[in-house]
Amino acid sequence: EDEKQNHWFVGSIDQGTTSSRFLIFNGEGNPVASHQIEFENLYPKSGWHEQDPYELLNSVQQCIDGAMHKFASLGYSKENIRAIGITNQRETTVVWDSVTGEPLHNAIVWPDTRTSALVRELKARQSADSLLELCGLPLSTYPSSVKLLWLIQNVDAVKQAYEEGRLAFGTVDSWLIYKLNGGAQAERPIHVTDSTNASRTMFMNLRTLQYDDKLLGFFGIDRNKIKLPKIVPSSDPEAFGKVATGALAGVPIAGCLGDQSSALVGQCGFSPGQAKNTYGTGCFLLYNVGTEPVISKYGLLATVAYDFGRGRKPVYALEGSIAVAGAGITFLMNNLGFAPKPSEINALAESVLDNGGVVFVTAFSGLFAPYWIDDAKGTLFGITQHTTKGHIARATLEATCYQTRAILDAMEKDSGHKLESLAVDGGLSASDLCMQTQADISGIPVDRPRMRETTALGAAIAAGLATGVWRELDHVKESIAGGANGNGKKNAREVFYPKMDRKKAERLFRKWEQAVEMSRGWVRE
Ligand code: G3P
Repeated sequence: EDEKQNHWFVGSIDQGTTSSRFLIFNGEGNPVASHQIEFENLYPKSGWHEQDPYELLNSVQQCIDGAMHKFASLGYSKENIRAIGITNQRETTVVWDSVTGEPLHNAIVWPDTRTSALVRELKARQSADSLLELCGLPLSTYPSSVKLLWLIQNVDAVKQAYEEGRLAFGTVDSWLIYKLNGGAQAERPIHVTDSTNASRTMFMNLRTLQYDDKLLGFFGIDRNKIKLPKIVPSSDPEAFGKVATGALAGVPIAGCLGDQSSALVGQCGFSPGQAKNTYGTGCFLLYNVGTEPVISKYGLLATVAYDFGRGRKPVYALEGSIAVAGAGITFLMNNLGFAPKPSEINALAESVLDNGGVVFVTAFSGLFAPYWIDDAKGTLFGITQHTTKGHIARATLEATCYQTRAILDAMEKDSGHKLESLAVDGGLSASDLCMQTQADISGIPVDRPRMRETTALGAAIAAGLATGVWRELDHVKESIAGGANGNGKKNAREVFYPKMDRKKAERLFRKWEQAVEMSRGWVRE
């Protein structure tokens, strides 16, 4: 028992688009207890995507309870948890009343396209072109800025709170941190965000890591009327407060990272030139470019990779964002009734030799990187009497692989380097078929860790760095590399090598590009 008292662990809340989890990691970066809950996503109209902010919070709290229960059965208690980190779906926009702490609307989720008309209007302004250089993001329906603007323009309660100076805005990290600290009832309410999350709003200057009046001004957001979360580094022992109640009462929150940044950290992608691709609800490739941001010329985003504070320089990434990866599988299950489980969709895809000529441009939210086609719609090509569910399932998996290939091409042009191999993680990376296809289409090996909870691990690393569990990034690398995730250990990673004839791969990719062209320009309602 005495020995157990000296064991330190770090917790991690991973609040994603389709599920929430809480994991507890040991010093080697291996999870010892975890709990996961899926919550409801709401699609009230075509192109609209919402979540209830309280459902997000409650799912997180249930996950904490569930994992702490398992942790207790191993003989540990919350006293063994040095700190927790938070990682979250990014851009999703929450608005609440700063006086009562109550939400003023459902959260608008990142793939929502209700703002497409608004974005067209904004793009027509002269100054629109200067935004990319300042914040790293092109104008599209994706960032938080346009979602917030839509809420202020279209929801009376939000407009009124704004006029009266009571409107609090935040991404999911801000909302959770605020509520976990006790919300409006806390002695000192905490309203913060970290620079990785703030870099997804379009309000933050990528170089100063502070709100920029030019950016706020472009969207007509008056700083004096709205409560914006204070931007702090991703790793800090005090800025995020502590958990007020429940199974973790009193435990400090010491790390916060947007989920894609967190996965890069969890993969220990600390050196310039390292990259990872996370196949979650969407799929996001982040490429570490070092301590100076690189503004893309080829349709990628510039973003903050991580910012560990205390005199350390922030590190930036080039990002390729794909809106639909696992969401395509969910679509086949829930909307088309193909099968009840992702593993069965994968089996369907495996049941056919190839896609049978079917290409599925899964542009449910328009197309993101590197294309940024707002008016593209999901389009299936190549259907014949020969087509089966298997072909469509296969084409759905392939869509993410083709888009990743297009992003890799753009990365190569922007950075002048070709990636030697692609580190992957996330739910869909469990599919061998999908990973083999990825290697075939992109012509480079795909490298998959056995421990795939890298997103949650990243936030745990940020929290552990702030509280002395790990001293520096080198120490993190050494400790984690010894664990199941590490390169140091045999069988810690599996590699998929390209097998397909290159000419065939290029032919398939060209067909995809043709399909992308044909999916654009749909008539506006
Ligand atoms: O930008 C959105 C992203 O953060 C969502 O990630 O893993 O929920 O698809 P995921």
